[in-house]
Amino acid sequence: MKKDLIGFYDSGVGGLSVLKVALNKIKNKNFAFFGDTMRMPYGARKDEEIREYTIEVMGFFEDLGVDLSIIACNTATSHGLKDANSIYNYPIIGVVEPGSMNAIERTKNKKVALVATKSCVQSGIYDKVLKNMDPSLELNSVYCPELTLAIERGELEDDHIDAIVEKYLDEFGDYDFDTMILACTHYPIVEDSFKRIFKRQGKKVLMVDPAYKTVSDAINILNIGNEEIPNRTIDFYITGDIDKFRFTMDKIVDLSDFNVSFHHVKIEDLEKYKK
Ligand code: DGL
Repeated sequence: MKKDLIGFYDSGVGGLSVLKVALNKIKNKNFAFFGDTMRMPYGARKDEEIREYTIEVMGFFEDLGVDLSIIACNTATSHGLKDANSIYNYPIIGVVEPGSMNAIERTKNKKVALVATKSCVQSGIYDKVLKNMDPSLELNSVYCPELTLAIERGELEDDHIDAIVEKYLDEFGDYDFDTMILACTHYPIVEDSFKRIFKRQGKKVLMVDPAYKTVSDAINILNIGNEEIPNRTIDFYITGDIDKFRFTMDKIVDLSDFNVSFHHVKIEDLEKYKK
């Protein structure tokens, strides 16, 4: 039976920012979402660990029979996408190339700022991809671990998030960027906070959420049309505490039109996908 299924993978709730874009644009697929909350934050992990986890989850998705997987995590894309694509024989895409392309299209002064996890910043992946596309582009990056964790815990109150975001934005000093890449999928969930602070500071900054171009790439790869299917399903596969995940999830997406199920996945059950 054809499952018409797309897989989304993140360490936690960040991937929901990508799923949310897909829910708006794709009306004829079911979705599977893998949240590796037991092992998050990926941003503080070793490159090799993140590569391994990505390979495991892409194997898990292959067994589920997905048509395509979206690595809805910049950190996992940085360390796992290339190897996942050489191991598996079904389409797997990440968020870094689409995000970079979008930033190149937007910036006028060719000065781009990026916020991401420590591991993603230190991988240098965005520098590499962006400069490949346009060698004259300048990029400065700041990692924001506290922001990722506050979002994951569902602490989304404006004042609280604004204070954290402002502290990290201060690290850019007087760098006069015109474009900012939200290069951790957790951050688009609080994009309004970034906008509020830029507005308060009188700065005009174009925001890039890599999710939009990523989802449109998925639509092109699978040749997805406009027809709609009823009674669609979203299955969540969570390695950590399902209630904690749902607590934050309910603040981020409205899934009332879907048949939603939650499944706990034991880390030991991912062993068999190790490569
Ligand atoms: N949401 C993830 C990203 O886009 C990573 C968050 C984390 O686990 O540190 O990089």
